[in-house]
Amino acid sequence: MKSSFINLYNANIKREGADKLLEYLENTDFFSAPSSTRFHSAFEGGLCQHSLKVYSKLLELVKLQYGERWQDMFSAESIAIVGLLHDICKVNYYITELRNVKVSGGWTQRPYYTVHDKLPYGHGEKSVFIISNYMRLSAVEALAINWHMGGFDDRVKGGSYSISEAFDKYPLCVLLHTADLLASYLEEQRGE
Ligand SMILES: [Fe+2]
Ligand SMILES: [Fe+2]
Repeated sequence: MKSSFINLYNANIKREGADKLLEYLENTDFFSAPSSTRFHSAFEGGLCQHSLKVYSKLLELVKLQYGERWQDMFSAESIAIVGLLHDICKVNYYITELRNVKVSGGWTQRPYYTVHDKLPYGHGEKSVFIISNYMRLSAVEALAINWHMGGFDDRVKGGSYSISEAFDKYPLCVLLHTADLLASYLEEQRGE
């Protein structure tokens, strides 16, 4: 999984700073972290696997929507950046703790994932912030990553209308959110 991610990353993302960003990721728990505490891909390596799934789903959707000439709309680099990196806000975000569970009448300790957010900056906006520390994003890439949670985004729940304008003007925002939904809800292993 890690090598598929790195191969896709290196084959598609060539802009200045991309090497530094990958180096940063390799020094975090990106390749071992889960994708959630219990909902989707809640296992070691789940975050990397989810990122790969969202990337391939996004590529599929873009081709479905725009056909052979999809690269007139988006570069392969943009698709790789938003697909592979949309959730890097989850780096150094989960920790493992132990809890007591009853197994055949006796108590035993089992590990479980819980959130310990070391940089509480939000979700999509946090991914944009982290990426921007290493390389520049185009406005469209930043918007797509920023709003990839769609209606689940806390700002949207709080009443922000910016997302509707972003979805209205920038098809990549709609496509990335859809790819994230399809990957998380229809294709990944789900917990309770
Ligand atoms: Fe996300
Ligand atoms: Fe995601």
